[in-house]
Amino acid sequence: MKTTYRTHTCGELSKAHEGLAVRLAGWVNSRRDHGGVIFIDLRDRYGRTQCVFNPERSREAHALAEKMHAQYVVQVEGAVVPRPPGAVNPKMPTGEIEVHVKAAEILAASDPLPFEVADECDAGEDVRLKYRYLDLRRPRMQRNLLARHLIVRTMRRVLDEAGFVEVETPAMTRYTPGGARNFLVPSRLSPGRFYALAESPQLFKQLLMMAGLDRYYQIARCFRDEDLRADRQPEFTQLDIEMALVSEADVMAVTEKAVAAVVEAVLGRQVPTPFAHLTFAEAMRDYGVDKPDRRFGMRIGDVAHVARRSDFRVFREAAGRGGHVRGLKVPGGQAMTRKEIDDLTAYAGGFGAKGLAWVKVEADGSLSGAIAKFFKPPEQSALKESFAAQPGDLLLFVADEPTVVAASLGNLRVHLGRKLGLVPQEDLQFCWVTDFPLLEYDLETKKYVAMHHPFTSPNPADLDRLETEPASVRARAYDLVLNGVELGGGSIRIHRTDVQARMFNVLGIGREEAEEKFSFLLEALKFGAPPHGGIALGLDRLVRILLDEQSIRDGIAFPKTQRGQDLMTGAPGTVDEKQLRDLHIRLRPEAIEGEAGK
Ligand code: AMO
Ligand code: AMP
Repeated sequence: MKTTYRTHTCGELSKAHEGLAVRLAGWVNSRRDHGGVIFIDLRDRYGRTQCVFNPERSREAHALAEKMHAQYVVQVEGAVVPRPPGAVNPKMPTGEIEVHVKAAEILAASDPLPFEVADECDAGEDVRLKYRYLDLRRPRMQRNLLARHLIVRTMRRVLDEAGFVEVETPAMTRYTPGGARNFLVPSRLSPGRFYALAESPQLFKQLLMMAGLDRYYQIARCFRDEDLRADRQPEFTQLDIEMALVSEADVMAVTEKAVAAVVEAVLGRQVPTPFAHLTFAEAMRDYGVDKPDRRFGMRIGDVAHVARRSDFRVFREAAGRGGHVRGLKVPGGQAMTRKEIDDLTAYAGGFGAKGLAWVKVEADGSLSGAIAKFFKPPEQSALKESFAAQPGDLLLFVADEPTVVAASLGNLRVHLGRKLGLVPQEDLQFCWVTDFPLLEYDLETKKYVAMHHPFTSPNPADLDRLETEPASVRARAYDLVLNGVELGGGSIRIHRTDVQARMFNVLGIGREEAEEKFSFLLEALKFGAPPHGGIALGLDRLVRILLDEQSIRDGIAFPKTQRGQDLMTGAPGTVDEKQLRDLHIRLRPEAIEGEAGK
């Protein structure tokens, strides 16, 4: 990679170049002064090369090297020389050679750094984000950006080969439905009006199917003004796909192909396809969540049938009320102390469980623990059978409303899996979760809301119950789950005006509101809309998992904090009065006070 400044990169030279006169340029990674001779490790994206400044070779270059500090950008000229046998570094690709410098130039100096540019960096994330360009010089971050590039390139290759067309859709659009709050952009030319930043290309990609594109994809930027959690960014990237004349299986096959190619490209590993399938109901029953981590077993077991026959009031009453009584087996958990079980109880309590009942299976097969006495021998046997429990195991139970039982046991399962080291970290377990409910009842607004989005097709087998038993209608929606993380979601869409109208009706979106917000879609459905469906995968999440990073931010060049701030640029920032006036905006007093209070 020759340029005006260099003949080779800092990662390129080996014994094969022995004797060659070369010119390198890069950052000073480290400088060691060995009494007279100065060694400088020169670094660029491609690697590091040891450069030796000997005053006997060039007094001038040596004098310059004395002035070079970490992160100076320098250029050196010299000869490639094999290192003396004792000085060979087998860990460095260029470890067999060094460059004996004859001439050098400082291209740019560097102030002392706020933190060291090295993988073992103990700077807090706030400082790393403030000086992101320095943080990105660290080899690990460079690896992450390169891997992200490879991932995107692989996705594009697979989809290009499968006949997909990449089409850009607007970021500035109208309000887009889907659950998240939209970011708004005030219009200068239309006073009092706002664009919404697209939450996803959803409606546009459907319209592209109606336009006859047949197969669309986009590496699409999405914007959502949500409360940020660990796996979320206010602007993030999707691999967005839409296909015409398809069913679930077609979308899944393309997705699996792209994902398997990405894993192969980044990790050199084969993922078995097709991926496993679970229905939403199965996932909730066995794992308590709709995004199961299937790298380990420890499934939730139902003991309502035993609870009903027991003398334990909490269990009997919960089972009688139509609640759930379910539990987990902790293999070898008999050894857990009271304190450890109390900690688990507190953990489950964080998800609403009012308690965590437990029994231990003793060496003779009998059950011990405070609630054991409420179970007669046949019930004790039934409890053990429900989990195929062995002596030495611990059984944990929660009795409550189904949602509380699922949330507390589902999270407890993952917590225990990690704590007990049951999760093979390297494993990649993909699975599809299907047959989601179409609607969710929102207790606050007392309305049904779409679980995926309002354009998701109901399962035709359930369609006649849409108005009478909305909660029982399944959607033609699917999620792709990887190691307990929702990686993507999609659905087969509604392509008939009458069904779309019924859907809006059930959602309590009146004809006028629907016309106002989605008239273009409703109209397009009238002009020959083919059956279609698609999916979107969260690129940032995929990058994080494949690179085994803790934070989604480590795979994003310039991410935002949990509070939605960019610590480097200072966004969001204030704007001056003139800009506001141009936009026909006056700030409310509390916004001005809030700013003054900072
Ligand atoms: P959905 O809203 O499920 O579907 O989003 C798809 C995937 O995008 C990722 N994702 C996020 N990643 C980072 N930060 C966020 N704030 C964030 N929000 C979502 C997740 C998620 O699974 N238009 C539909 C797709 C379709 O129906 O085709 C959609 O956007 O990994
Ligand atoms: P108590 O009868 O309140 O002393 O509770 C006896 C045991 O049952 C304790 O271990 C509690 O944590 C547990 N427990 C109480 N309520 C529930 C519940 N809803 N589900 C599971 N265990 C419970």
